[in-house]
Amino acid sequence: MSNIVSIFDTTLRDGEQSPGCSMNSREKLIMAKQLQKLGVDIIEAGFPASSPGDFESVQQIGLELNGPKVVALCRADDADIDAGIKSLKGSFNWGIHTFIATSDLHLKSKLGIDRKTAIKKAVRAVERAKKHTDHVEFSAEDATRSDPDFLVQIFSAVVKSGATVLNVPDTVGYTTPAEFRDLIIKLTNEVYNADKVVFSVHCHNDLGLAVANSLAAIEVGARQVECTMNGIGERAGNASLEEIVMALKVRNQHYNVSTNIHTEQIFQSSRLLTKLTGTVIQANKAIVGANAFAHEAGIHQAGVLKNALTYEIMSPESVGVSVNQLVLGKHSGRAALMGKINSLGYDLTDKELSSIFKKFKKLADKKKIVYDEDLEVLVMEERSTGIEKYKLISVNVTSGTETIPTATVILSISGKQMPPKAAMGDGPVDAAFNTIRGIVNIPCVLTAFVIKAVTGGTDAQGTVSVSIEWEGIRATGRGSHTDIVIASARAFINALNRLDLFLQTKPIDGEDQEEMAGI
Ligand code: KIV
Ligand code: ZN
Repeated sequence: MSNIVSIFDTTLRDGEQSPGCSMNSREKLIMAKQLQKLGVDIIEAGFPASSPGDFESVQQIGLELNGPKVVALCRADDADIDAGIKSLKGSFNWGIHTFIATSDLHLKSKLGIDRKTAIKKAVRAVERAKKHTDHVEFSAEDATRSDPDFLVQIFSAVVKSGATVLNVPDTVGYTTPAEFRDLIIKLTNEVYNADKVVFSVHCHNDLGLAVANSLAAIEVGARQVECTMNGIGERAGNASLEEIVMALKVRNQHYNVSTNIHTEQIFQSSRLLTKLTGTVIQANKAIVGANAFAHEAGIHQAGVLKNALTYEIMSPESVGVSVNQLVLGKHSGRAALMGKINSLGYDLTDKELSSIFKKFKKLADKKKIVYDEDLEVLVMEERSTGIEKYKLISVNVTSGTETIPTATVILSISGKQMPPKAAMGDGPVDAAFNTIRGIVNIPCVLTAFVIKAVTGGTDAQGTVSVSIEWEGIRATGRGSHTDIVIASARAFINALNRLDLFLQTKPIDGEDQEEMAGI
């Protein structure tokens, strides 16, 4: 058996499907390129049959990547499989991932079919995909609440039809490490030709056991894990890529397997995802949280200074946390800026560098020191402009102890500058939001508003994350500036642009969307 565990990243499918983590196709492509740099073996780029937008995004990722295998998720029916094939045919390295639910609960209540029909559909889907690609993965949705003997039956049938990877999802995060271990042992012993296929696991985190369950399965022979950056995913999320990879690396003598991941790219990948989605990671999150390598207690600090191993089981550098304290200021030149941005893991085109250099100079005039975090904000802003419907031209507010907060805003909509509008609010940010709502004529509700200083000091850039909701659709947005009212207005407009994107890329039909929500 191989001692390499394949990392199957589903950040762009299962992760992106979760509330607040949606990305447009450009953002997905940026993330996919970073996952390629990280060294993941397989990228699940999306669910092509779910919407025209997803189809195009999978297609684009398949065409632009030239390393990892790119796979598309498809239900076990002809139309889905055909959409998956169509989206990826012509890609450098691709495969199909098809699935059907196998628990009696899902078969009866969700699909209204019996076990025999499920096997028939699974076999047909695998055979159809196999005509176009060598790589066909089959997943038994809700496997951990399925009859294990039925799993042996359906997995054996799809292996006979050409499946090369058998995935065992803990769809609702229900299993425990010991139970999951036993299930994998049974399947690897009893499925037809089990030694000729790869066993994969896909664990959700409803009981906080996704990583532990995945590792338990690896101990008994699973050689592919499906996971997401930062553990994003449906409900409580998926198993976190960085936690699995670092557990296998740090405890290599115990697990005796390794991965192809370039671990120094972990932090950069995690940060990129939070910037693209606007979601914030808890400070004490393992590996990538802000406090993961911070030692607060004096006794710990003293120990680490004498010998880092006293309180650190892995070095910050091993996961790409920069210990380079070199910072830039207003006298730094273009070459220094380029060098610094490259060291943070971003490759810039000349055009991007020129534009970022101008913004950097402006920022450096306002702040004495420009930190890595400030530069990352500039890069992300540069890369997220250009296709938005709504653009902020100016925002001005009056507020104070003796006045009603009022904002005056000028926006452009689809390239056309709108006349200035003004409105009042409970505070300057509320006034700005009310004015923007009036201009775009979308009476959305603000459901979350978080301000964070990206660096220390009163001259820090504030990053604002907002969530808005309108007609049952939720969208998040982010904006940064040294002025928090401007940062807030940018975040609100960013969310409105994402909302607009959802409205443009409506799923193929409502029923499909409902079924997707149940995955
Ligand atoms: O959680 C799940 O069961 C899934 C499958 C589609 C693999 O996401
Ligand atoms: Zn899942």
